[in-house]
Amino acid sequence: MSRVPLPGRRAPPEATARRSLPHPGRAAQGGARGGSCSRRENRRMPHVEVTVSTRVDDDLRACLLDLWTDVTNAGGAVGFVAPVTRDVVAPVLDGLVERVHGGTQALCVLRVDGEPAGFAVLSTSVSPLRRHWATVLRVQVHPSRQGQGLGRVLMAGVHDAARARGLEFLHLTVRGGYGLEGFYERLGYEVFGRMPGAIRVAPGDDRDEVLLLCRL
Ligand SMILES: CC(C)(COP(=O)(O)OP(=O)(O)OC[C@H]1O[C@@H](n2cnc3c(N)ncnc32)[C@H](O)[C@@H]1OP(=O)(O)O)[C@@H](O)C(=O)NCCC(=O)NCCS
Repeated sequence: MSRVPLPGRRAPPEATARRSLPHPGRAAQGGARGGSCSRRENRRMPHVEVTVSTRVDDDLRACLLDLWTDVTNAGGAVGFVAPVTRDVVAPVLDGLVERVHGGTQALCVLRVDGEPAGFAVLSTSVSPLRRHWATVLRVQVHPSRQGQGLGRVLMAGVHDAARARGLEFLHLTVRGGYGLEGFYERLGYEVFGRMPGAIRVAPGDDRDEVLLLCRL
């Protein structure tokens, strides 16, 4: 069951990037549909922002857990294969939270009218030779909000956060066979390689891992 957030359950942001939606009409309709941690019942233009969180409190963790589980069970390619339960996702999320608190990963949270509707992770290397770039991980928008331009807004927030850290380019990988390269290519990413059969989504169903890069 999806979580409906209580008033005042918002983690204080470290940095905020406000964005206009490319398709405000579609987004406003999406707002009326609602979803996990993002339900709203009005038709005004939603307020959309991407914040970088350095602390994940219990409320934000609960929203991220709902999001990641719902996205996976709707067919998203974010580290699991559907169906998953929250119990399966929780330990992986907790590892992420630990790295965010340790400062090696930055959590970029997409909020619609203040409520988490998606997130992505910026992962920097500990190697002094690799401090000029980072890897983007776990990019996801709640299924009830997809196709409204929010993924583009989320990635713009990730790019802003990366530039603010002085990074020169970003790297990410996608699971082959999902058509996800198209989403990133629209944002300036280029495919520079692939690892054949790197991802085993099921016995007898190996997918390539496609490698992409974006200069900032
Ligand atoms: C991938 C994802 C983040 C995109 O977010 P979104 O809000 O649905 O995307 P947007 O509405 O902002 O789309 C931006 C553009 O990318 C295109 N696009 C979106 N998803 C796409 C896909 N899977 N394949 C190709 N193009 C895609 C849109 O058509 C749009 O194009 P336009 O600007 O020409 O109109 C979202 O669909 C998602 O969370 N998917 C499940 C999780 C997942 O698989 N993440 C990828 C991890 S690598």
